Amino acid sequence: MAKEIKVCMGSACFAKGNLDNLNFIKQYIENNNLESEIKIIGSLCENKCENGPRIIVDGVEYKNVTTEQLEGIIK
Ligand code: FES
Repeated sequence: MAKEIKVCMGSACFAKGNLDNLNFIKQYIENNNLESEIKIIGSLCENKCENGPRIIVDGVEYKNVTTEQLEGIIK
């Protein structure tokens, strides 16, 4: 089953870095031909903005995520 990466697209997470994070994930998936294995979904603000930018991988929340951390998280 495909892994699911949920990227918070609420204004706080978006402004704090999830735009860059989203672009990184898309690029990573493309570079590694993982289109069929990883599904990206966007979410609205879940009122946990203090943890932002937030990324949720298969239900596990990662807080204050930077692009530098993302490769490790995705792997
Ligand atoms: S904007 Fe992401 S939790 Fe509020």
